[in-house]
Amino acid sequence: MAYETIIVDTADDVATIRLNRPDALNALNQMLLNELCTALEEADASDKVRCIVVTGSEKAFAAGADITEMADKSYVDMTAQAYFQNQSRRIEQIRKPIIAAVSGYALGGGCELAMMCDFIIASDTAKFGQPEINLGVIAGMGGTQRLARYVGKSKAMDMNLTGRFMDAEEALSSGLVSRVVPAKKLMEETQSAAQKIAAKSLLASMAAKDAVNRAFETTLAEGLNYERRTFYGLFATQDQKEGMAAFQEKREAQFRDK
Ligand code: HXC
Repeated sequence: MAYETIIVDTADDVATIRLNRPDALNALNQMLLNELCTALEEADASDKVRCIVVTGSEKAFAAGADITEMADKSYVDMTAQAYFQNQSRRIEQIRKPIIAAVSGYALGGGCELAMMCDFIIASDTAKFGQPEINLGVIAGMGGTQRLARYVGKSKAMDMNLTGRFMDAEEALSSGLVSRVVPAKKLMEETQSAAQKIAAKSLLASMAAKDAVNRAFETTLAEGLNYERRTFYGLFATQDQKEGMAAFQEKREAQFRDK
């Protein structure tokens, strides 16, 4: 499918979706988010994809929601259009693992989009922030909720109230990102992580994603029950038999997603 604001490249079981509005530092407008959702859904449904990467440019993952698109909207417009709510839900429904590869600015909606992915690999140039407070508003796609879960109350408050940016090192030490790599190695390192994931049983990786996400929606006891039932359920798959037989036979497992 031809897109105007993103570039999709699928190779070796990995779909890489690059945000591509260079003149606006990949600011998220309706078209970009709709195209991103469509590409994610296509990747989720494709038997050629076992892991998804979302990335931007070297200068910006995304500098936030498009301020030009929002500036003249009224409360009624935002509410009637449920601005970006539908797209947020569509991204949350994706079942395959999604890695965000972040270089440069990931601000406002850009930081929120990165946090909607399953984990974030950052280049050493990455800068995260929720600067909406400088525009007289607040975060609207998870910057007060997901950020608090990633980094805790104190830092989430700091980021949302001062609008300051967090560099890659601080993002790593506070748990917002899982690893930091030199800018030049960002895509190589991300592709290698994606390849590792793509080599697993997709049934197991989707179950792992689903179960970890459950941790943020429920009590520990309920979450542990959910995990246990999901774990038992995987014993109904051929991939479990193959994975454990391969271990015993000291060979690589050949998963078939069955
Ligand atoms: C629209 C944007 C933009 C944005 C940058 N641009 N961010 N356009 N929306 N969020 C445009 C600029 O207007 C400029 O266009 C071009 O991109 C390059 O940006 P510069 O500002 O010239 O670059 P630089 O000086 O390097 O500064 C980079 C920056 C700054 C620090 C990232 O652009 C910035 O502060 N951007 C806004 C960040 C922000 O407030 N984000 C939160 C948005 S609200 P021209 O045409 O002038 O060259 C949000 C709400 C989410 O995200 C919730 C939704 C439900």
